[in-house]
Amino acid sequence: MSAFSELYSEIAQCTDCGLARTRTRVVPGEGPEDADILFVGEAPGWHEDQQGRPFVGPAGHFLEELLHSIGLRRDQVYIANVIKCRPPTNRDPLPSELMACRKWLDQQIELIQPRMIVTLGRYSLAQFSPGLTMGKAHGTARKKDGTILFAMYHPAAALHQQSLRKTIQEDMLKIPLLLTQAEQVEEVKEEDKPQQLSMF
Ligand code: URA
Repeated sequence: MSAFSELYSEIAQCTDCGLARTRTRVVPGEGPEDADILFVGEAPGWHEDQQGRPFVGPAGHFLEELLHSIGLRRDQVYIANVIKCRPPTNRDPLPSELMACRKWLDQQIELIQPRMIVTLGRYSLAQFSPGLTMGKAHGTARKKDGTILFAMYHPAAALHQQSLRKTIQEDMLKIPLLLTQAEQVEEVKEEDKPQQLSMF
């Protein structure tokens, strides 16, 4: 069994928080095991919970449209969430759930070793860059341990708030240049301190 298959089967059996009791299916994430870019959303919604796949509902369709705008298909990137099981009624994840689930995403990152992690939404941003606010951080990049962290609003935000659609589209267009100019993105060392972000 490959390290990935082993990890998926561990995640599928996880009962480390209460979401295990209400989920239909676990949604570990999907994509190439050696993907350059890892997109990290918040948590599965209804569609994802039914299918066991990330971003397959309306937010997922917008994410695919965004990927196409930079010449990518969804099967060329890795897509995951900070929370692997759907919170009932799509409520916000609880701190205890975020803590219990963190280990799975950490292990995915360890295996994938992406060049860039794109955080989608505030829960994902908070996992990687605590202390930063979305209003300031979106569309900006920093580097942590050699990996580029790029912050974006959650695609679902554009579905609820039309004014954010253009912002999200513009932020997405920065990704290809960031990857080609990765050496210009500054490394951030003091993790817990809000930082001036480095590029764009
Ligand atoms: N929203 C998320 O954050 N993740 C999904 O998988 C679907 C919607």
